[in-house]
Amino acid sequence: MRAWTDIKTPVDDLVQGALPQLPPGVLAVLSMLSYEERALLFELGRRFDDRGAIIDAGCFLGGSTLSLASGLAAASKGRPGLIHSYDLLRVDPEHTAGYSAEIDKLRVGDSLRPLFEQNIAAHRGLISLHEGNILDERWPGEPIEVLFIDVCKSWEINAHVVAEFFPCLIPGTSVIVQQDLVHWKYPWCAIVMEHLAGDLEYLGWTWYASSIWRCRATPSVDLLDVDFRKDIGLEMGLQYLRRAAQRHTGWAVPILELSRATLMHEFGEDSSASAEVDRVQAEFGCSVPYIVDAYAAIRDVVSRA
Ligand SMILES: C[S@@+](CC[C@H](N)C(=O)[O-])C[C@H]1O[C@@H](n2cnc3c(N)ncnc32)[C@H](O)[C@@H]1O
Repeated sequence: MRAWTDIKTPVDDLVQGALPQLPPGVLAVLSMLSYEERALLFELGRRFDDRGAIIDAGCFLGGSTLSLASGLAAASKGRPGLIHSYDLLRVDPEHTAGYSAEIDKLRVGDSLRPLFEQNIAAHRGLISLHEGNILDERWPGEPIEVLFIDVCKSWEINAHVVAEFFPCLIPGTSVIVQQDLVHWKYPWCAIVMEHLAGDLEYLGWTWYASSIWRCRATPSVDLLDVDFRKDIGLEMGLQYLRRAAQRHTGWAVPILELSRATLMHEFGEDSSASAEVDRVQAEFGCSVPYIVDAYAAIRDVVSRA
């Protein structure tokens, strides 16, 4: 199995190739990830080149963790503690509601650790668990080969993740999966990658929302020393999101166009945000699954502001 360093194949082909080979446990585990995203992580595990750590930032019940670990195991790769998994591991209406009746019947604040431990038990030795707020975590500077990001639900967490992990990317090797990038709700994920695009190579995206990149050059301190909200600002942010839409193509286009409305709202420009939702709806209609829910959700947020 070749490593990611020499990928020439489109990400779609890699994902489609891995899908039929996913172990039953990876398909069955309760996860917020699509089967395509699990296949992507499984393939990343299989292609691991042992040049650095694997970061699993935002593991919930261990769906991403199990996908990565199963890929490593399928290729007889890995070492103790290689996968660094980060999560609050608590029931929280903002992050964990609506995915399963089993979780929804727990109380807010209850621990999800037992479910995580159960799901990843077969590969426990491969995993270093960082339970708690990722904002309190510091990365010691070890090189990172695989950076899976599924925790950047706010500007603040996004800034922290970029500052801690991006300086440790390995030129020509590291792969970054931004799980929330092809999503209307988290415009900062695309803004970061467009800001750093000179040092990164876009490889593709996979349903539901993951954008995949490879590190060309470790981003410089100057490039990383930016406040992605204040310094980049609304105008440049909107340009970055347009560029992200053009880069990602297909179903990603309306979703990323819609993320411009979220950015306008973040900057207090609510009438522009409403007009942007209307424009995207007029142009793209219902061409993407769940987009009607997204139109409604943004209109709801804007009308409550
Ligand atoms: C989309 S879910 C991750 C899904 C997961 N990758 C999977 O395979 O199902 C996002 C996770 O981020 C976690 N999270 C949100 N804010 C966090 C924070 N400040 N520190 C650590 N984890 C956080 C939530 O607890 C939630 O489990």
